[in-house]
Amino acid sequence: QAPLHITNEPIKSFESTSTDTVLLKKALEKYQSKALNIPLIINGEKVFKDKDFGTQVNPSNHKQVLCTYAQADAIDVQKAIDASMDSKQRWAKMSLDERAAIFLKAADLISTKYRYDMLATTMLGQGKNVYQAEIDTIGELADFLRFNVKYAFEMYKQQPCESTKGVWNRTEYRPLEGFVYAVSPFNFTAIAGNLFAAPALLGNTCVWKPSATAILSNYLLMEIMLEAGLPKGVVSFIPGDAEKITERVLNDKNFAALHFTGSTKVFKNLCKNIYSKSHYKEYPRIVGETGGKNFHLVHESCTLKHTVLSTLRGAFEYQGQKCSATSRLYLPESISKEFIDMFKAYLNEIKTEDCNENIKGFMGPVIHEQSFDKLANAIEEAKKDPELEIVSGGEYDKTKGFYVEPTLIRTSNPNHKFLKQEFFGPVLTYYVYPNDKFSEICKIIDNTSDYGLTGSIFAQSREAILLANELLRYSAGNFYINDKSTGAVVGQQSFGGSRQSGTCDKAGSGSLLTRFVSVRSIKENF
Ligand code: ALA
Repeated sequence: QAPLHITNEPIKSFESTSTDTVLLKKALEKYQSKALNIPLIINGEKVFKDKDFGTQVNPSNHKQVLCTYAQADAIDVQKAIDASMDSKQRWAKMSLDERAAIFLKAADLISTKYRYDMLATTMLGQGKNVYQAEIDTIGELADFLRFNVKYAFEMYKQQPCESTKGVWNRTEYRPLEGFVYAVSPFNFTAIAGNLFAAPALLGNTCVWKPSATAILSNYLLMEIMLEAGLPKGVVSFIPGDAEKITERVLNDKNFAALHFTGSTKVFKNLCKNIYSKSHYKEYPRIVGETGGKNFHLVHESCTLKHTVLSTLRGAFEYQGQKCSATSRLYLPESISKEFIDMFKAYLNEIKTEDCNENIKGFMGPVIHEQSFDKLANAIEEAKKDPELEIVSGGEYDKTKGFYVEPTLIRTSNPNHKFLKQEFFGPVLTYYVYPNDKFSEICKIIDNTSDYGLTGSIFAQSREAILLANELLRYSAGNFYINDKSTGAVVGQQSFGGSRQSGTCDKAGSGSLLTRFVSVRSIKENF
């Protein structure tokens, strides 16, 4: 097998008069002019519902319904499970080359024929600007599909067994015997895609429950997969009531793996539920990426402007609705005033806006009303708490869309719950530490939060970098030195954290793929 040359999909610049911009605007209009009626897809068949349907609205303008969608009932879920088990007979026997061709073709369809549709559905549904939609829907999604192929071939090649005279030893990477349950989040189309694509590439079949607030883009992705040649039944698309779907899935003895991205609370409940059962044919694999309370630790030796801009981007790009978003900041006393003055000056230039209209706007709305309410409550709480001070922002408005101002909060308590709790939005809390307490602050950062997803140290002092690297070893599965806590690139930094942030199986890596194979060793004597 020749080595595969896989590169990251380049992101376009969308100059205002470019053909790209014209085509994108057309696509935005198309999806805004008519709400689609979205079916379930089970065994390759579209299942429409005239009752029991949900709606997805545009968070920039919540009166605009983007789509209505069918919700799976228990019979639909069972059909999806049956389709997974039936289609597996053929899918698992196909060669990796044949399966890879489908995912590589899907990546090409995403980055060419359907580029503007993918962008438009993600911008409308997720409140992203055009670059954020490009990075998610084109860059990261196409990259996941392609890099998984590279990692799968590398894994298949690794057969660390010697064969001696008269004996042939070999290793077989079998798919799991049962089916995979993929539960995807509302914020990233790329993550949703990887949750089913990584296991499916290896010959597994999946029952996929997308998030209720990401149906439009996720359904388009499902259609692209079918157009790329994914055989019917390999992945079933079943939106609906999470608890009811999960109950049916986990009661099936062929449930073999959970591939999840979402909240820590939901993941823990799923784990508890799975561990409480003993009827499974094989021990289910559990792979999850959950919450975070990601930090920026600033050392007095940092480069100030770079650190300020990185923090601004880490905390407020994507409205802070990235699992990797920066949500706690630690500043040394000597430079805290200069840092905050500069930070506030930049913040004053940011306004929340409808990024469907201004496609390059820095900040759109948060994705749904529950998020908005949670953030509004947190801001109100901050206004009353004597240990907290709102230094910038603090306004929110859901009259038209779910808009929350980028909000900066200072706390005088290094153990305050605002430095522990995940809000999943544009709220950044900071604490100022005495310059000579650098190692103490590292220990506090490590101890205050239960999470371990991402974090950054900003310093020019090598001593400070090495100390932080050592003391924060388990505080972040993705640790950055002089870079923001967000923006892992597939194929360059695999992504995922430990502790309460997940199983650290690293999306965009060969180690994730190993979780979805069952290795068989074969010895043959001649
Ligand atoms: N891969 C995304 C990031 O690192 C989630 O920000």
